[in-house]
Amino acid sequence: MADIDVLVTGGRLYLDGEIFEASLCVSDGVITHVTTTPGTLSADETVELDGELVLPGLVDGHVHFREPGYEQKEGAASGTAAAAAGGVTTVVEMPNTTPPVLDREGFREKRELFESKSHVDFALFGAITAENLDTGAIAALAEEGATAFKTFMATSFGPLLMDDKGELYRAFEEVAETGRPIYIHAEDQEYLTEFTRRANELGEDLDAFFASRPPVVERTAIADVIEIVRETGAETVVAHVTTAEGLEMIAKARAEGLPIRSEVTSYHLRVDESRLRDVGTRGIGTPPVRTAANREALWQHFENDQVDLLGSDHAPHTLDEKDREPLAVAPGMPQLETALGALLDAVHAGRTTLPAVVRRYAERPARVHGLYPRKGTLQVGADADFVVVDPEREWTVDATAFESEGKYSPFDGWQFTGMPVEVYQRGRKIAEELETLNEPGDGTWVH
Ligand code: NCD
Ligand code: ZN
Repeated sequence: MADIDVLVTGGRLYLDGEIFEASLCVSDGVITHVTTTPGTLSADETVELDGELVLPGLVDGHVHFREPGYEQKEGAASGTAAAAAGGVTTVVEMPNTTPPVLDREGFREKRELFESKSHVDFALFGAITAENLDTGAIAALAEEGATAFKTFMATSFGPLLMDDKGELYRAFEEVAETGRPIYIHAEDQEYLTEFTRRANELGEDLDAFFASRPPVVERTAIADVIEIVRETGAETVVAHVTTAEGLEMIAKARAEGLPIRSEVTSYHLRVDESRLRDVGTRGIGTPPVRTAANREALWQHFENDQVDLLGSDHAPHTLDEKDREPLAVAPGMPQLETALGALLDAVHAGRTTLPAVVRRYAERPARVHGLYPRKGTLQVGADADFVVVDPEREWTVDATAFESEGKYSPFDGWQFTGMPVEVYQRGRKIAEELETLNEPGDGTWVH
C-alpha cells in the first residue's frame, strides 16, 4: 500500500500569501502534508507539474444557478459544471429562485436538489423578504445551515425585493442574532423608479440602461446600509459594488470598526461602458458597469485593500431575455468560466498580484461563509481542492463552448493570458482545459 493517495509535485504552491516550490500530499481527499522533500513518499497517483501554479480551489460566494424555477436559464448541474471548468470548487448559491429559499423546507429541497446534481461542493444562501420577517424563519434557515442571507433593496431579478427601509432594518436585526452575514444588493428603489421613468424616453438606446441606474442609486443605498449596520451590528457584505465612492464609504465604515465588507466582480473590474456598447444588451447586469475612469479607480482600491471580496455574480438568462430593449432585459450573465481567466490576465498585465486575487476569491469568501480552513486554503487539514494554473497560457474565450447553459459573454473573443488548466476536488481531477470531467452529484454540501 502506498503512503498517500495523491502526490502533486513540480508545482509552485500558493500558501498563506506566499508562492514557493513544494509538493502537496493528499489522502482521503484531505491535504496531509505540504513538503519541499517528498522524496521518500509513495503515492497511488502522482500529478507531475512543470512549474505551474497550484492555487486553492476558488470559493465563489455569489452565484445564481436558477434551480428550482428557471431551468431554462441554467440548472444546478450546468451551473456547477461551469464552476468546475472555471476553477471554482466551492460555490455559495443565491436564493432568488422560485420558490425562493424562505424557510426550512425550501432550504432542504434546494439542498437535496444540489446534492443530486452538483459537480462542485456547495453552500446555500437563505433569502429575506417581508414574507419571512418575524416568523422565526431566519433563525431556522441559519440552523439548517444557510451560510449567509441575501436581500435586494431594488428590483434586479427574482422575487426578493425589500424596498421598505423599516423592514430592511428589521431584517438586519434578525440576521445579527444568527451570527451569519447578510449580502445586500445595494441600489435605492425609489431613485431607481425615478431614473427609470426618465430613461424610458431614451427608448432602445443602450444609454437608457445607464440612465436608469446612475451611480447615485448605488451610493445612497450604500449610505443607508452603513447606518443600518452601525445600529444593528449585522455582519454585512455589500454585493457587487460598482462605484469607487461606494468602496470608499464601505472601507471607511470598516475602518471605524463596523462589520461591513465590499464584494466586487471580475466583470466590473474588466468591463466598462465602452465595452458594453460593443457587446450590447447581452452584457447588461445590475448594478451597471461604469466609466473607464471609475473602473481604473476600482483597480486602485483593489490594490489599496478597499475591495474585500471577489465574486463572479454568475447569473445567466436565456438569449431571448437578453435580446430586448435595454430596460426590458433580464440583468445578469454567465461569468464562472471567465472570472479566473479575466483575473489571471490582469495579473499577467501587472494590474494586480496573484496573492491579492487568491485572498479575495478563496480565503476571504471561505471565512465569510464559515467554511475556512476546510475551504479556501492549501493548509494541512484542508480539503484537497486545487487549481493548476498556467500563468503564461494564452487562450481565447469561446462562449459557445461554455458548460453553462448561457452561451454568451461580454468577454467572448477576448484573449486571456493565464488559464486554469486542471481542477481538483478532494484530490480528484474534475476539470481539464475548461472542460468538466466529473459527474453531477459528485459535489457535497458544506456549511
Ligand atoms: C442577478 C440575477 O439575475 O439573479 N442579476 C444581476 O444582474 N446581477 C441578480 C443580482 O445579483 O442582482
Ligand atoms: Zn445583485
